[in-house]
Amino acid sequence: MPPAAPIKTLDKEGREITTVGFDRFGFDCEVSLDVLRSLYLRPHYVLSANDAENSPKEATQHAQFIQGHSEYQSKSIYHPDTNSISYTTLSLFPPVKLLPPSGRKRILVTGGAGFVGSHLVDRLMLLGHEVTVLDNFFTGSKTTVSHWIGHPNFEMVRHDVVEPFMIECDQIYHLACPASPPHYQFNAVKTLKTSFMGTLNMLGLAKRTKARFLITSTSEVYGDPEVHPQTEDYWGHVNPIGPRACYDEGKRVAETLTYGFQRQDGVDVRVARIFNTYGPRMNPYDGRVVSNFIVQALKGEDMTVYGDGKQTRSFQYIHDLVDGLIALMNSDESRPVNIGNGDEFTIGEFAELVREIVEKVQDGDGVKRSRRVDIVYEPMPTDDPQKRRPDTARAKESLQWQPRWTVKMGLEEMVRYYKAKMEEGSL
Ligand SMILES: NC(=O)c1ccc[n+]([C@@H]2O[C@H](COP(=O)([O-])OP(=O)(O)OC[C@H]3O[C@@H](n4cnc5c(N)ncnc54)[C@H](O)[C@@H]3O)[C@@H](O)[C@H]2O)c1
Repeated sequence: MPPAAPIKTLDKEGREITTVGFDRFGFDCEVSLDVLRSLYLRPHYVLSANDAENSPKEATQHAQFIQGHSEYQSKSIYHPDTNSISYTTLSLFPPVKLLPPSGRKRILVTGGAGFVGSHLVDRLMLLGHEVTVLDNFFTGSKTTVSHWIGHPNFEMVRHDVVEPFMIECDQIYHLACPASPPHYQFNAVKTLKTSFMGTLNMLGLAKRTKARFLITSTSEVYGDPEVHPQTEDYWGHVNPIGPRACYDEGKRVAETLTYGFQRQDGVDVRVARIFNTYGPRMNPYDGRVVSNFIVQALKGEDMTVYGDGKQTRSFQYIHDLVDGLIALMNSDESRPVNIGNGDEFTIGEFAELVREIVEKVQDGDGVKRSRRVDIVYEPMPTDDPQKRRPDTARAKESLQWQPRWTVKMGLEEMVRYYKAKMEEGSL
């Protein structure tokens, strides 16, 4: 596969985005977007030739592969004739900042092998911190962070947060919890255990080590809201016994626990209420609307909208979320903070936008379509909220954070990511 063409990304004001992160609260977290992209917009495997006689030796293929692509990637080789992969280890890691011991933090990321976690890990690693990922790989995968395996600043532990865990650390980003409806509904009791016992264990760890603790809560704590947009002071409208309750109520009790530890034990806590986020490394088959639409459109299948398509959603790009999480962790704001993008779309409009961007990328790459995909409507699942939009005034005021990525720019990158995955046969 040839290396991806450079993508020019413009922010909401039309300025080019070349870096993400910022220098704020005494914490410099700016990194180059190109280096980050070299970690996620890349093939996992190189395809070996079918013809054994003409096929160069693996070492040659390996050398070709390294030259043809970014140097910071795994160079495993896929052999279609035997359907096998020759795994290799990394020869070179991306440069990470050299921090003085006083600036280098020992950071634990639970759920660090998941979609959000892996992007956070990339950022924290590039910034020069020591990162430990704790994950049971229920929905996450080792491949999302495999490019760091072997790095002296990186550790990965297979562990279920429902069980206690002890480690010395300065900051805990507690993300472990399945986030998409099919995954959290797969075993509702386990989701509740993860939310309650997992958070209890990680707060206990924060208490013992005096680490700062950040939990990734969710806009789902607002349920099917009666006020728009939702501010952090809104208490929510949640069905406690519906199919989504294991997640919504799980996160609500996790927030209650977090503030219980703050009041009783003085634990230094941060609560991020994350709204709908999308980006590369999202599981394409977990039923979330962005990945569903893109994969359907790329495969030339009709795009499915549940309901009449008039329900609205806002979509935030992963890099904005990671900026927000790092800003929150390093700020003095201990109240809950909404982190999301307020640009609202009806699901019907959004489906059309995705179709347009997929076509634009396909046309740019000279891909011929046999037909234009249709948008089809199916019945709405139970308890799906009709409308949700963040009020991010608090994030703007206390973190000086605002989303920079337009939905269009984020979608284009995401379409290229899934398209590359399809071309290498892993989607
Ligand atoms: N992605 C979003 O739009 C969104 C929105 C709101 C909140 N969040 C929150 O952000 C966090 C990360 O979400 P995501 O989208 O990356 O989901 P994800 O499913 O991709 O990642 C969750 C990670 O947690 C791990 N995990 C699950 N249960 C665990 C357990 N018991 N022990 C250890 N590890 C466990 C999974 O294996 C996975 O790696 C979650 O807490 C989620 O509730 C995400």
